[in-house]
Amino acid sequence: MNNEVQANKQQVQAERAILLDSILARAAEQLGDLHDPVMQHYYRRFPEALAMFEEQGLGHRQKLEAEMIASVLYCIMTWIERPVEVAIVLGTTVPHHGVALHIPIACFAGFTDVVVEEIAATIPEGAHAEAALLAEIRDSLQRETADAASHYQLS
Ligand code: HEM
Repeated sequence: MNNEVQANKQQVQAERAILLDSILARAAEQLGDLHDPVMQHYYRRFPEALAMFEEQGLGHRQKLEAEMIASVLYCIMTWIERPVEVAIVLGTTVPHHGVALHIPIACFAGFTDVVVEEIAATIPEGAHAEAALLAEIRDSLQRETADAASHYQLS
């Protein structure tokens, strides 16, 4: 790749990172802590997951919930700059959740979706570039999750 193309690619990536920063900063300002809105939304959509978090949290359900929200945020924040790193995380953690922890893949994928949706709800109408970027990240995380699940024949 010549220097000009490389510089252009880096600039596009930097602009996308700045856009994502502003999405996340606004979400943090409007929602404060993501924990309650995310978990209420998630348990409305997957009521069966409450027992899973209770059981796997070993008396510390809220701590486990917070750690999983942080894991999804890490994937969202890292995707633009280091997508291979996120692919590796999902490629190992998806089978761990499916095989060792017996978490249905729909519940796993749905957790990611709910975190993204709570953030997306804070993007103002008309901010098309922000909405498109977040949708692209969501699709990418779901694609990596589905690839890992199908590799291990998880359902
Ligand atoms: C669906 C609800 C989820 C539940 C009940 C859950 C539960 C757990 C538990 C119990 C652990 C500790 C595993 C151990 O020590 O053996 C763990 C670890 C982890 N979880 Fe989740 N999790 C969920 C969703 C997610 C999602 C959506 C992500 C997305 C990135 C994620 C990422 C991780 C990571 C990176 C670890 C540490 C590494 C690993 O054990 O694979 N989790 N999760």
